[in-house]
Amino acid sequence: MNQSPLLTAEKIDKDLISFLSGIGDIFQVFDKQDSGCISYGVRTAERNWFVKYAESTEAVGYMKNAEAFHNAVSHPNIPKLLNVFHTDRGFALVYEWVDGQVMGTPDFPGKEGRNHPDSPHLRFRQLTAAKIVKTLTTVYDIHQYLESKGFVAVDFYDGCMIYDFGTDTLHLCDFDHYAKGPFLLQTDRLFGSSRFMAPEEFVKHSRIDQITNVFTMGAAAFVFLADGSRAREDWRGSEAAYRVASKAASKERGERYDSVRTFYSEWLKAIN
Ligand SMILES: Nc1ncnc2c1ncn2[C@@H]1O[C@H](COP(=O)(O)OP(=O)(O)OP(=O)(O)O)[C@@H](O)[C@H]1O
Ligand SMILES: [Mg+2]
Repeated sequence: MNQSPLLTAEKIDKDLISFLSGIGDIFQVFDKQDSGCISYGVRTAERNWFVKYAESTEAVGYMKNAEAFHNAVSHPNIPKLLNVFHTDRGFALVYEWVDGQVMGTPDFPGKEGRNHPDSPHLRFRQLTAAKIVKTLTTVYDIHQYLESKGFVAVDFYDGCMIYDFGTDTLHLCDFDHYAKGPFLLQTDRLFGSSRFMAPEEFVKHSRIDQITNVFTMGAAAFVFLADGSRAREDWRGSEAAYRVASKAASKERGERYDSVRTFYSEWLKAIN
């Protein structure tokens, strides 16, 4: 069987929309993102695809960062990057499509959006604590794996979590800013949603590393199990899990776990 042009393209001469429409049906367009990228869900006879595209030098640079990232890692809950190609003006990443709804979307912006009855965020938070804990555990499993590969998560937030309510499966997306190893912050604020960000991510010249990521992992637990509150009475999980998440999300770096790996092993003990 001939391979799909989406797998073999290196450089296309047509504009992207004509190219994609000639291959399949564009069934979804993501054109409200902050990144300057525009993405498409494309259906062909053999499968669904996610094609992410940008033209600006900055956005293309981050997409090439994602390309290097995907070439270095492989995890069942990370959609596979299947190909990349150039157009006259831009660059595209071709991913396998994953089913589900993203927890943070421009369709439901801000706190109000997250609390809207139709928002995937609220729907997810209304699941049983056991299902939420299981999903968080997947987030942590992915990040302890990425840490073992030398990556530091940047810009991880609920907008990277695609949850399939039918199968209770989570995939993560958007690794455009993940960094190979620790680095010193060169700006006054790192990319990201403040609900997930450690204090050092708001301080120029601070070190961003696995201990920063430990904070984000803890903060994620509070977002989904306590609606962002750090108070014990708002927490829907166990006492032991509360203690682990609280230590992880300590303001002081020295009070956190020293790696995502250590955090993850304490989390597993706490939930089992
Ligand atoms: N592999 C995939 N399969 C299906 N949908 C996906 C996939 N990857 C991403 N998406 C969807 O596309 C949306 C945009 O993707 P992504 O977050 O990578 O774009 P972005 O332009 O970097 O956005 P942002 O400005 O929020 O960083 C996601 O929120 C998610 O809903
Ligand atoms: Mg992005």
